[in-house]
Amino acid sequence: MDRNSPILLFDSGVGGLTVLAELRELQPDAPVLFAADHAGMPYGTKTEPEVAARVAGLLGRMAERYQPSLICIACNTASTIALSMVREVLEVPIVGTVPAIKPAAGMTKTGTIGLLGTEATIRQPYVDQLEQDFASDHRLLRHAAPGLVQLAEAKLRGRDVSVDDVTAEVRALVMQPGGQDIDTIVLACTHFPLLLDELAEAFGDGIAFVDGSRGIARRIAALTEGMKLERAEPDRAVTTGDLESFKELTDSFVAFNIHRLERF
Ligand code: DGL
Repeated sequence: MDRNSPILLFDSGVGGLTVLAELRELQPDAPVLFAADHAGMPYGTKTEPEVAARVAGLLGRMAERYQPSLICIACNTASTIALSMVREVLEVPIVGTVPAIKPAAGMTKTGTIGLLGTEATIRQPYVDQLEQDFASDHRLLRHAAPGLVQLAEAKLRGRDVSVDDVTAEVRALVMQPGGQDIDTIVLACTHFPLLLDELAEAFGDGIAFVDGSRGIARRIAALTEGMKLERAEPDRAVTTGDLESFKELTDSFVAFNIHRLERF
């Protein structure tokens, strides 16, 4: 592995940008290849075998083509379903993204935590296990908010996203029995922190939001520490989907010093 090999950040769409933002803070010189599977988005409404086959197949092809130093699956849905399977078949170090239940359990004062994710993520045994390991003496209320994925994609393409649209997607979380006690919400989908301002307004004061992106960036930094990664060519972002639609995201990528947008 040479020091110019990129860190491959993989998501179904722009959710990976929440991880990229933290990674740039910690390792501004590390080469990055951002990969979005827009042709397969959304993952959250797919079955487990569909997500697993797609993610394993694509990451195998991407690993061969780009020879990354490390792969980060910057997607909770893909990670909670396919992380162990992908680790078994690829030789590259792989960092996953899992719901930040552990830090949320350390933050809550009321003992009631909310969790927003995709439909697929919130039903995963992986999440049951995290709840059992770190929040067994708390109450964890889950809610699927798949519409937030499209709203985040629209926002980053410069379209108007209203607080009402966001509120409609998340309201049912606090309507559950005990929901009025929620003081901490886990954003268990990498797309969701892109709507942080709208979510803060939708839920009002007194709610803390937590996601795993900072911890993931730290983990990537720790695993690549000895490699002295250095950018030899400008970073790129690739999509499996429509290139014209992807190019509407140019400003969002330029903000992170990615100027080349291509089709995978
Ligand atoms: N960004 C992905 C996640 O973290 C999912 C979005 C999708 O449904 O494709 O779960």
